[in-house]
Amino acid sequence: MYRSQQLFYFMKPSDKDPIKLRLQVFLSRNGVCSRRQAMDIIKEGRVKFNGQICREPSAPVDSSRDHVFVDGKRVQVKRYDYVLLNKPAGYTTTKFDRHAQKTVLNLLPRKFRHLSSVGRLDRDTEGLLLLTNDGDAAYQLTHPKFNVDKTYFARVSGNLEMDKRKKVESGVVLDGKRTAPAKIKKVKPLKNVTELMITIHEGRKRQVRFMFSKVGHRVIYLKRLIQGPLVLGALKKGEWRLLNQQEIEGLKKM
Ligand code: URA
Repeated sequence: MYRSQQLFYFMKPSDKDPIKLRLQVFLSRNGVCSRRQAMDIIKEGRVKFNGQICREPSAPVDSSRDHVFVDGKRVQVKRYDYVLLNKPAGYTTTKFDRHAQKTVLNLLPRKFRHLSSVGRLDRDTEGLLLLTNDGDAAYQLTHPKFNVDKTYFARVSGNLEMDKRKKVESGVVLDGKRTAPAKIKKVKPLKNVTELMITIHEGRKRQVRFMFSKVGHRVIYLKRLIQGPLVLGALKKGEWRLLNQQEIEGLKKM
């Protein structure tokens, strides 16, 4: 075992060490290559970490202090922006929809026009939408294999009976494939409508709307409140804010 490798076995990132990234992730986050390729170039001994060759992909890197070189070239730390928007209805999340009248980027200052939405919300859906240029964070939040919870407040037509609720929770078939188990809470029957919270971890197109329509209920209003470690909180409709350091670290720890 290499000396540098030995050292890093005792320096695995921990919860108390939140701003450190694994070397492999550090390389992909900073645009050197993909995570898969990063694994290879680290193992090939092409990466120097604070002056020493490092063959340990999980070596913890503190980007504010450590120096990483690949093939003799310093890796520049990329600047990422994370904007959390309370999307109002009537705006599309897709950047390049030529037919869209209004996209969520219209709600942000010009300096954020390079950002992409993380996952999509339907035009009629409101609520939490993250926009970032951090592809890794976007991947972690949206790829089905990570099972990231998303919680929505929904108002559906009619009175949602227990059997229908159970059907939605245990999964309905959409496009020939059953949806993963969902959790419905805080069910409040009102006059002609039911309000509730639903948590899903997939991101299929118009999923919540289709799940309820499968059991005979129309979604009248839908708002995303939570996505993984992010919570919409008191942000007003159409307003945005930058993620704070704790939230960014929450994303990195995912
Ligand atoms: N499910 C939907 O039906 N629409 C959304 O925008 C998000 C989840």
